[in-house]
Amino acid sequence: MKGVLITFEGIDGCGKSTQAERLVEALRRRGETVVHTREPGGTELGQRIRHLFLHLQGLDIDPTTEALLMAADRADHVRRVIAPALAQGAIIVCERFADSMVAYQGYGGELPLDALHALNALATGGLEPDVTFLLDVDPSLAFERRGRPADRIEGKDQGFYHKVRQGYLALQKQNPQRIILLDGALPIEVVHQEILSELARREILSAQGGSGR
Ligand code: TMP
Repeated sequence: MKGVLITFEGIDGCGKSTQAERLVEALRRRGETVVHTREPGGTELGQRIRHLFLHLQGLDIDPTTEALLMAADRADHVRRVIAPALAQGAIIVCERFADSMVAYQGYGGELPLDALHALNALATGGLEPDVTFLLDVDPSLAFERRGRPADRIEGKDQGFYHKVRQGYLALQKQNPQRIILLDGALPIEVVHQEILSELARREILSAQGGSGR
């Protein structure tokens, strides 16, 4: 049985980690085999890349170098974690994937989008998520939720995050079947229920509980 790849996307502070955790708990309660992972940082190499990318004090990394670091993280993650779990029939819940690079380095960092799509295709071997939940929030709400910047990217200004948000919305318009737009300003439980309904509608879960696959 082939597994399912579910990804969560959105700007920092959109609530994606909370929703990913809620979904993972709900799936495990239903007896599913779930792998909860994230980018960057879903492998040992990825954790080191994440540290370089986000937490080295005073380091200025240009968008091209950022994209290449994220592509390396993604390539390792797909080969070591995602592809093997898919082959075993697991449901993979992944916080961020290829869309993050298009939104952050493409729209935010203004790199050419076609080059990033090609780089993503190389890194993923053409693998695409079965479904992506995009939690859309206004950058001012996301800033409020996050408090003090915790890493290099969060230190960027609201203008950057407006561009990233527009990038995500453009991606959603281009991929309306795969990317489900959710209002990240709604209460956590409301968003969670919308996610479960969407998975039931796609027969990834049955409406009664348990796997619909
Ligand atoms: P997070 O795990 O807390 O969401 O932080 C990851 C940060 O890395 C976030 O600011 C988005 C950024 N990022 C990119 O810029 N490009 C990418 O391809 C990925 C996966 C993440």
